[in-house]
Amino acid sequence: TRIEIIGAPIEVGTSEPGALMGPAALRTAGLVRTLADLGHAVADLGDVAPGCPAEARGLPAVAAWTQVISGRVAASLAGDALPVVIGGDHSLSLGSVDGALRHCEGAGRPLFVLWLDAHADFNTLETSPSGNIHGMPLAALCGEPGFDGLFAAGARPLLDPGRIHLFGLRSIDAGERALVTTRRVGVTDMRAIDEFGVVAPLRRALEQVAAAGGHLHVSLDIDFLDPGIAPGVGTTVPGGATFREAHLIMEMLHDSGLVGSLDVVELNPFLDERGRSARVLVELVASLFGRRILDRPTPVIEAV
Ligand code: ARG
Ligand code: MN
Ligand code: MN
Ligand code: MN
Repeated sequence: TRIEIIGAPIEVGTSEPGALMGPAALRTAGLVRTLADLGHAVADLGDVAPGCPAEARGLPAVAAWTQVISGRVAASLAGDALPVVIGGDHSLSLGSVDGALRHCEGAGRPLFVLWLDAHADFNTLETSPSGNIHGMPLAALCGEPGFDGLFAAGARPLLDPGRIHLFGLRSIDAGERALVTTRRVGVTDMRAIDEFGVVAPLRRALEQVAAAGGHLHVSLDIDFLDPGIAPGVGTTVPGGATFREAHLIMEMLHDSGLVGSLDVVELNPFLDERGRSARVLVELVASLFGRRILDRPTPVIEAV
């Protein structure tokens, strides 16, 4: 696979400073070399810079990031590369998903989004208890009101909420719970993972994408992981995915062959412990791009 790394050192979507160092930490942890060692052609395109003043804040600043990230991701996909956007806070997915949507519209393929996250990120400006935009990208992408001007002139992405799958959810605000329910967003919450494990729910979600001939965008928020293995994030929530669960998910994603674009978000190196979280993320991305323990065909085990 031809992989293009796009750094998005954005932190205006959160109130906790430090995420802007995320791309540098992921590079320091060996992201590019690790993917190249797996045999991929990797191009590090460097960091994008938004066309707004450095002191800009709020929606206008996020709009500038969104438009530049969207353009880069759409260009990667148009060139048949697989864009990996490294952040940076989760508001960067406004850009990456918008770019993937634009590409998919042109290609006549449905876009599916797998959101690996402790949170739903489905707040609007009205429902958000914090006002932090990194808790809102999915609502904006689905066309909820209040986000005019975020996307390129006149355009409005229309992501189908039924093609979003929230995986690992364990923290949701009252207003977004109502929205997630009425918009019929797909959810595998931690309760479901405790009960069924990760394999059955993920397999079902992947079958839906495959049956529709879809492009799968994966958005990996580091707080999906348990804080015990990944403390370097501003919004830790106890009870997250284990190292083993997370690797299995990545391996299944690789085996599916469906992943067309990826975000790695919310790493905050200022809160990390000697690079641990950055290293875990690099290991996970390696599994998603085909690292395996032994070179053997994946055993086919009949579903019970
Ligand atoms: N739901 C909370 C909020 O709206 C937390 C969002 C956390 N989002 C994230 N991408 N880490 O503020
Ligand atoms: Mn394509
Ligand atoms: Mn998130
Ligand atoms: Mn989160």
